Amino acid sequence: MNQLPDLAAIEAMDEADPLRSMRDRFSLPDGVVYLDGNSLGPASPSVFGELEKAAREEWGEGLIGSWNSAGWFELPIELGDRIGRLTGAAPGQTVVGDTTSINIYKALHAAMGLRPGRSVIVAEGGSFPTDLYMAEGVVSTRPGTRLLLEGVDAPTIEELIDDRVAVVLVNHVNYKSGELRDMAALTRRAHEAGALVVWDLCHSAGALAVDLDGANVDFAVGCTYKYLNGGPGSPAFIYVAKRHQAEARQPLSGWWGHARPFAFEPRFDADTGIRKFQCGTQPILSLRALKAAFDVWDAVDMALVREKSLALTDLFIRLAETRCGSFGLVLESPREGAKRGSQVSFAHNHAYEIVQALIARGVIGDFRAPATMRFGFTPLYLRYLDVWRAVEALEEVLRTQAWKDERFAARAAVT
Ligand SMILES: Cc1ncc(COP(=O)(O)O)c(C=O)c1O
Repeated sequence: MNQLPDLAAIEAMDEADPLRSMRDRFSLPDGVVYLDGNSLGPASPSVFGELEKAAREEWGEGLIGSWNSAGWFELPIELGDRIGRLTGAAPGQTVVGDTTSINIYKALHAAMGLRPGRSVIVAEGGSFPTDLYMAEGVVSTRPGTRLLLEGVDAPTIEELIDDRVAVVLVNHVNYKSGELRDMAALTRRAHEAGALVVWDLCHSAGALAVDLDGANVDFAVGCTYKYLNGGPGSPAFIYVAKRHQAEARQPLSGWWGHARPFAFEPRFDADTGIRKFQCGTQPILSLRALKAAFDVWDAVDMALVREKSLALTDLFIRLAETRCGSFGLVLESPREGAKRGSQVSFAHNHAYEIVQALIARGVIGDFRAPATMRFGFTPLYLRYLDVWRAVEALEEVLRTQAWKDERFAARAAVT
């Protein structure tokens, strides 16, 4: 294994970083090492100006005319196509709107409708919980349908896929461990059994290059407030492969999915393209923030993002294990870069308190129950120096047992 870099070597790595200048395009408080962009991405300063413009000019002056003149009505489609550039989706297959949870519901229903006679949804026991909750919701409305889980009904998801399965709902990168699934292989496996796939891209869109069309994916969903930096609660997206759009039916048949929304017809007649996956009026100010965030993304080369992400996460693992390994940290993320998303998770019995002590020192990661410390590495604005500083703080918190301070045990509503 290569020798561990010292501070001078770390600074040289930052000097040589081709993404170095991107950091200036984000608003980050001085002294903060932000390792939570996998939960809530930071703002670009340009977003503040665009939000002001959207509120003062488009809403304040343009009033209702802005649905047309400021392009509000088309924003979900326009932004969907811009997300498609990062997720390997040709235009016309991605639309922004609603939440990831709601889009999971739409996608699962649509997929089940495309596989009549099949009664099983397969998902991961270790999935982000909302995926499972939404799948339970779908099952509750379709008598005779069952949800089978990896880790509960069989050790691996592949073992659950057979000719009873209508749809496989799976996370590209696991929210807790950061494990990256092989999208092409698992999609192929599902298709061989006649099933469809719904991929949750919440932790991969903007974190690594995704190839939805190339992997022949059927449906995908994801959020925009993490790696895509769209802002708190910014709307999610849904991808539906062109080949399914005419036939697929989504259950939330609201007027924005109608073929002629402004004809105000009494009966629902779905649009034949991706617009049918819309439901109702969208939060335009939030979409305007996302649009401004995309001014950063449009010029970004995802191959460089992935390369730096792997370098940052590798460095963090090596430094943390070398300097803090004796304090009871257990790596929960895959050691092999090819199997890892853009985060590193460590288990520790006092994970919650340690994360709070780190936050008090300006190193912001997060905690996931029961015992995971999660650190997200976002290559556009993080430096190798930030990795170094994070490990310095972690080592100090563990060595001095600073986490034992009782103020770090108090649990807030959001962790
Ligand atoms: C993998 C994954 N799926 C879904 C969600 C939830 O999405 P939403 O709150 O937009 O419904 C999250 C949120 O963190 C997530 O990490």
